[in-house]
Amino acid sequence: MKLVLYGEANPRQREFFLSRSRHTAYGGARGGGKSWAMRRKFVLLALKYPGLDLLLLRRTLNELRENHIVPLQRELYGAVSYNTTERVFRFPNGSRIKLGYCDSQQDVYQYQGQEYAVIGLEEATHFTEEQMRFLTTCNRTTRRDFSPRMYYTCNPGNVGHAWVKRLFIDRQYLEGERAEDYTFIPARIYDNKVLLEGDPGYVRQLMSLPEDLRRAHLDGDWDVHAGQYFREFSREKHTVAPFELPRHWRRFRSMDWGYNDPCCVLWHAVDGEGRVYTYRELYVRRMRADEVAKKVLELSRGEDIAYTVASPDMWQKRGAMLAASGGIEGESIQEMFALCGLNLIPADNSRVAGWNRVREYLASDPSDPNSAGKWQCFKNCVNLIRQLPLLEYDSINREDAADGDDHAPEALRYALMSRPRGKSEPVIKKRSAYDPLSLPETDSNWYSR
Ligand SMILES: Nc1ncnc2c1ncn2[C@@H]1O[C@H](COP(=O)(O)OP(=O)(O)OP(=O)(O)O)[C@@H](O)[C@H]1O
Ligand SMILES: [Mg+2]
Repeated sequence: MKLVLYGEANPRQREFFLSRSRHTAYGGARGGGKSWAMRRKFVLLALKYPGLDLLLLRRTLNELRENHIVPLQRELYGAVSYNTTERVFRFPNGSRIKLGYCDSQQDVYQYQGQEYAVIGLEEATHFTEEQMRFLTTCNRTTRRDFSPRMYYTCNPGNVGHAWVKRLFIDRQYLEGERAEDYTFIPARIYDNKVLLEGDPGYVRQLMSLPEDLRRAHLDGDWDVHAGQYFREFSREKHTVAPFELPRHWRRFRSMDWGYNDPCCVLWHAVDGEGRVYTYRELYVRRMRADEVAKKVLELSRGEDIAYTVASPDMWQKRGAMLAASGGIEGESIQEMFALCGLNLIPADNSRVAGWNRVREYLASDPSDPNSAGKWQCFKNCVNLIRQLPLLEYDSINREDAADGDDHAPEALRYALMSRPRGKSEPVIKKRSAYDPLSLPETDSNWYSR
């Protein structure tokens, strides 16, 4: 029996075929040929390595049938047998491709104790992080000629958006994860000549989508997703390569305190037109208050910092929680910072007003929709750039952002609330009772008062 596989891989699909990483994701725009590449890769691996066990998953059975079972049956017809009950393709060389789905969170546990040298997650963003983590525990083999790997195809959006983006786009790794294990291959509809020639109307269809969906599905932009709080954020518009800041620009800091939760400190500079540049971040976990203060002062050496706004709860936090962060009973976190020579002023913590302020700073000038707005962020502030587009609307208070991984955006909110409004309309001159701009110019002279 002879098996003829039709079609030639496009350059991106070839890259996907050649990747040897432990985790390879092929993702971005719709229609680039991701599912085709996944199927073909599985068949090629099954043919090359006799006796190989592969598992290909989609979130629901219907999607699995349409996207993979039917096309694979067509491609492998006559050469490879298919068992409908088990949903397994058995190759004459002993290799097996099992197809499965994980409709509910629990479905994933049916694979407990099973061993697959290759696991593929189709539309990986439809899987939760917990499901993905569990599946990685089934990705192993005792073979010497093959190292276990996982393949992912994905479009932006859905429940798994954040973990796919963290691992493959932002490349932010937690303990136990290694950057070199993760490869991302961007998909573009323009790579898929077969589809462009066969259905030229498809690109037009993607182009006519509302802006956010178009950015996700046509451009493969990972910074937009459903339920997103700051759709106006764009990496292209709002992030810049670090540059030397003129000395006369006013500088200030903002901080969202945390000990068990992360603590984020941001440094900002304001140009002559009131545009705010966030130029540095400190993002730490389980670091004592005195250590954070020391680090902040060290990083600011030689800089003239006008003021530091910080989470108002730092004025209340005392006792046991404080002891954990290196303080003594009765002393507030803010006092501990002051003792280390870092004076803080309580930030304006009006949440919705604060997020609106951030939105104003992100907004483009109405006369030029491509302009950057009044806020720019140095590319080295990786946690802020990662978290800001991930913020989602709160399900109860629809004007607010939901709580979550938001320590860097909170620090940004505090910072911008200490500044005049970000709209291009005339700034209201009247100053509120809370006005850090009228406070002393530097940490040192504020402290010595
Ligand atoms: N190299 C190729 N040779 C022949 N046909 C291809 C090739 N790559 C993709 N195709 C065809 O192009 C169409 C779109 O490809 P595919 O379904 O793989 O895209 P996709 O990126 O998975 O899309 P989506 O984002 O909608 O899931 C399909 O009909 C597929 O069979
Ligand atoms: Mg697909």
